Parts: sequence; structure tokens; C-alpha cells
Amino acid sequence: MSNDPIFELKGVNQQFSSFPALVDINLQIYPGERVALVGSSGAGKSTLLRLLNGTLQPTHGEVWALGRNLSRLPSRKLRQIQGQMGTVYQQLHLVDNLRVIHNVNAGHLGRWSFFKAAVSLVYPLEVETARQALTQVGIPEKLYTRTDWLSGGQQQRVALARVLVQNPLVILADEPISSLDPQLSREVMDLLESMSEKGGKTLVTSLHSIEFACSHCQRIVGLREGKILFDLPAVEVSEERIEELYRLGY
Ligand SMILES: Nc1ncnc2c1ncn2[C@@H]1O[C@H](COP(=O)(O)OP(=O)(O)OP(=O)(O)O)[C@@H](O)[C@H]1O
Ligand SMILES: [Mg+2]
Repeated sequence: MSNDPIFELKGVNQQFSSFPALVDINLQIYPGERVALVGSSGAGKSTLLRLLNGTLQPTHGEVWALGRNLSRLPSRKLRQIQGQMGTVYQQLHLVDNLRVIHNVNAGHLGRWSFFKAAVSLVYPLEVETARQALTQVGIPEKLYTRTDWLSGGQQQRVALARVLVQNPLVILADEPISSLDPQLSREVMDLLESMSEKGGKTLVTSLHSIEFACSHCQRIVGLREGKILFDLPAVEVSEERIEELYRLGY
């Protein structure tokens, strides 16, 4: 692992009006690491992921990604850096009335010219790449299906196939298994783990399942009310820690 962090948050605060969603976050993530963000609903996991990919600017503090301070970048440079990050959002951000292939091909958009992207909407390009990605997530037969005809879990897999096609350095996944059954959850987590392990990609993912967090990530960051309660190797996360993380009130 290199000594330079791929992400660094320095004294980050995120306020929404007067509500402190994240408070004094200091965090370094290194290339190739697999980090799970865990914590109750509202703890700040999605907010943290949005800060990492630069779609949200911190109220205070600095977010560095791939060696750059994201709030200091001109928008073209920011988009270039964002092209190295594949995000799977909790709300999947798929275009419902398009066929699956177009949503998967959106993974190319950072690289394709406007013209190529426009042509592909009429005559889909790189069909084989899209088919392979859909095969990896287990739904190759859905290539030409309308996206809004798929089940929630199938749509989640389309969002993952899009990231496979994008082939980024970093994968940010916000609850990637929230609408999947246990078997599929395991398959998707295995896929994310192998993309990281074989492809050397950094993975930061929020998860509600502590079991999957500990079985598929090396490092667990526990967030509680916008603060980091613990940041530990998965093997050191004890039941007491988890109990403290989810305990109501104090
Ligand atoms: N755009 C926003 N405007 C106002 N408040 C927001 C906004 N985004 C998030 N919040 C608030 O910030 C807090 C953290 O939200 P966040 O979505 O990061 O939580 P989370 O840990 O991802 O929760 P969940 O597990 O339910 O997805 C919540 O209290 C939420 O209501
Ligand atoms: Mg969330």
C-alpha cells in the first residue's frame, strides 16, 4: 500500500442549516483499502460518501481526494477526478424509462464524446462490455429491458454494472445491498471485494449489516451522531463496540 492517502478529511464539519450532520471528522483512507461505514440511520454515512466524491462541499475543513483539495478545484478538474470514482447511490440514480444497456453504458460517459454518447442512445455501442458487466452481476438477460420494469434488487445490480463499466480507481457504494436478499447480498459483496482485491480498487461502502462489513472489509468506521465513534480493523470490532454504536441516547 502506498503511503499517500487516496482520501483525507481534515477537520471536516458538515452543517445542514443549523443541524450538524458531521462534526470534526479526521480520516485517512489508503489506496486499495476496503472501508465500511456503519452506524444508525442519520449517523452521517451518506453525507460522508458525498463529501468524498465532491458532490458536497464541507461547511468547514478540507476534503482531499487523489492528492487534490476538492474545494479548490475548477469544475473541469473536479469532474476529471470524479471520473476516477464510481459511486453507487442509495437512491440509485438510474434513468427509469431507458433500457438497461443505456444505464450501464452511462459508465462510459466520462470518456465518451457527446456525439458518441448521443449515437449510442439510438444504436447502443459496446454491447459486449455491457453484457459482460451484467453477467458479472447475474442479470445478462436484462440488457434490453426497460429499467423501471426491474425489481429493486435488479436495479441495484444495474447500478453496480455501470460502475464495472466505468472501471474507476475508487468505488463508493452507499448501502449497495439494501434491497437484496441474503444470497444476492453475498454475491454483490463478493463482487465488490473482488473488484477491490483483484483490481486494486479502493472501496468505501456504507452498510447496515455488521456481518458483511466485517467479512468483506478490512476496516470499519463507526459513525454516531456525525462523529467517528471508532475506526478499527474488522477483526477488532467487538460486540461491545457495536452495542455502543447503536445504543439509543447516552
Ligand atoms: N441535504 C440535506 N439537508 C438537510 N439535512 C440533511 C441533508 N442531507 C442529510 N441531512 C441530515 O443529515 C443527517 C445525516 O444524514 P445521512 O443521509 O448522511 O445519514 P445516513 O447515516 O446515511 O443514514 P441512513 O442509514 O438512513 O442512510 C440526517 O439527520 C439527515 O436528515
Ligand atoms: Mg444513507
